[in-house]
Amino acid sequence: MASITIRNLDDTTKQMLRERAAQHGRSMEEEVRILLRGSAASPEPAATVLPAPVIDSIPGTLSGKRILLIITGGIAAYKSLDLIRRLRERGALVRPVMTRGACAFVTPLAVGALAADRVYTELFSREDEHDVGHIRLAREADLVLVAPATADFIGKMALGLADDLASTIILASDRPLLIAPAMNPVMWAAPAVQRNVQHLREDGVHIIGPTHGEMAESGEAGAGRMAEPLAIAAAAARLLDDRPKPLAGRSAVVTSGPTHEPIDPVRYIANRSSGKQGHAIAAELAALGAQVTLISGPVTIADPQGVTTIHVESARDMLSAVENCLPSDIAVMVAAVADWRASGESGEKIKKQPDQPPPALQLTENPDILRTVGHHEQRPALVVGFAAETQNLIDNARSKLERKGADLIVANDVSPSTGIMGGDRNQVRVVSKNGVENWPDMDKQAVAAKLAQEIADRFQTAMA
Ligand code: CTP
Repeated sequence: MASITIRNLDDTTKQMLRERAAQHGRSMEEEVRILLRGSAASPEPAATVLPAPVIDSIPGTLSGKRILLIITGGIAAYKSLDLIRRLRERGALVRPVMTRGACAFVTPLAVGALAADRVYTELFSREDEHDVGHIRLAREADLVLVAPATADFIGKMALGLADDLASTIILASDRPLLIAPAMNPVMWAAPAVQRNVQHLREDGVHIIGPTHGEMAESGEAGAGRMAEPLAIAAAAARLLDDRPKPLAGRSAVVTSGPTHEPIDPVRYIANRSSGKQGHAIAAELAALGAQVTLISGPVTIADPQGVTTIHVESARDMLSAVENCLPSDIAVMVAAVADWRASGESGEKIKKQPDQPPPALQLTENPDILRTVGHHEQRPALVVGFAAETQNLIDNARSKLERKGADLIVANDVSPSTGIMGGDRNQVRVVSKNGVENWPDMDKQAVAAKLAQEIADRFQTAMA
């Protein structure tokens, strides 16, 4: 249906739609669906709805920054194509360098087309040396980013070897260095690789990921997947962020991800939360200067940079970790905490009983962390909660604001059709005692950046 509608649009509208879809990394049909969904969802009690602010959906924090992207030879090299798009949509100028191995996985033609620049591959190329030369390549960047960084390349970096263009640039560069390792989990765990990574950390190299998950090799899973392009682009933006730090001297505690509530030693109750939104908020608050502690439930994404991350499993563990962080200036409770846990967790695996009905699962209510913090004697000056709803979004968010003692509730519709739970994008309404603000559909990093800025503004207004 959407394709018929698009075909009938006039050329100017079609072009606007094409640009909007490209900017959001979506197909035109998807963009139309989201626009229609947004307009269908908008009727709300008119008196309290503030106009949606007009903002760029992607923060331009890399605007004009020059990133030298070194792609080394691993299967994750295909993700570098998406990474180039993510960097460029944030305004970065991307200059790609590929190792010989990388060229076996993706073509320089594709990389060059996406980067809108030529691709450098050879150390002893008369043409390249005449054009810029490896020293200029190394120095003319604001950031050198290696993604993916293979075990071999990490080893070369740690040892200071320089036998091709990419490794020579690393040695010749005095710019900040960010690497996104990607390899098989057994390789990542190998003592030699861990030694090399530790060396690089001590040398001041910034490292993002790897994350947990399925490997390209069938049946293999574990830590070794390259961090998602969005997360790498956000890490690059934070490293190059020279904005003022309005939250310097402030502390924040953020919860993120799901909780796992044990039934017995092998089974648990959980939900679909990925932790992407909570982790991004923790990182953005840190980027504005706050000292952030992230209390994360079990997730497969990487710990954000510049943030102290504490890993927990259950709601009760999460609550006690949060209370240990008080007093704190800011609390942002993003975790999808399981509302119930099994009463009387079994110490042994519950066995099937032949000819017996399945055991009944008795549930007990978990502590409400946001509500505890919102009414705590050491209540943070600003308490922000989320409301994940599938119906009556605003009414439910308002009642949570009141009941849980929050200053702001970020409400989102998590019906399966929105793709928000576990996805990369989010469309939120921010509910406070002053009314409701509709935010445009944005990626979760952009929602996080805008929320962190809103928090900083509230502190500045309170101090003025
Ligand atoms: N929350 C919490 N502890 C809980 C349940 C929720 O801290 N035991 C927090 C969440 O982190 C979020 C807010 O409360 O900030 C709302 O969570 P949500 O799941 O939307 O609401 P619930 O309180 O669980 O209510 P319901 O499931 O009935 O909507």
